[in-house]
Amino acid sequence: MFYLYSILAIIGITSIVYLFFATRSLIRLMIPAFAGGGLFVGTPPEAIDDMIELAQIQPSDIVVDLGSGDGRLLIAAAKAGAKKSIGYEIQHWLVKQSRELIEKENLTDKIEIHPDSFWHVDVSSTNLVLLYQISYAMKGIEEKLQKELPIGARVVANGFKFPKWKEERTIDNVRLYRKN
Ligand SMILES: C[S@@+](CC[C@H](N)C(=O)[O-])C[C@H]1O[C@@H](n2cnc3c(N)ncnc32)[C@H](O)[C@@H]1O
Repeated sequence: MFYLYSILAIIGITSIVYLFFATRSLIRLMIPAFAGGGLFVGTPPEAIDDMIELAQIQPSDIVVDLGSGDGRLLIAAAKAGAKKSIGYEIQHWLVKQSRELIEKENLTDKIEIHPDSFWHVDVSSTNLVLLYQISYAMKGIEEKLQKELPIGARVVANGFKFPKWKEERTIDNVRLYRKN
């Protein structure tokens, strides 16, 4: 009888642990989809280099990442000399993780992370947007940036294209756009 209860207890505990991780993964998939953006996939290091190369960051640049994930693009922008880098991220675990990374890099005076949906913030005071979003979000983001960005602002996008804007330069799958 003891063995039977032990086996049942092990099965019970394993199921609870499995359910916890499965639910957490599901939530991490669902939150970005409901928020109208892509799930978290970090930009790979080579693409970050391409983005920084295309961005040609200046000391006066105010950089925004729409869906900042673990903050890697903002950290790269700050290290490349941007004045201020601002991230908007809908998933709280990523907000926490990115803030920890930024602290570790001693860049807290250069980078801010806001736990907000990028659809609900005004980005008119930025002149450089770094972007890695999902294909279905690109049309809406293009319209938002067309309305809000100042003329001459740059957008460097990894992965997916804007439907209307024409890229100024491309390296592999990374594109530089300029707001006209
Ligand atoms: C493909 S990842 C890119 C992460 C980071 N920018 C990078 O390049 O490594 C997209 C990120 O956008 C976030 N996201 C999706 N929809 C969002 C929304 N409406 N507002 C803010 N963040 C959002 C996701 O949680 C995810 O972290």
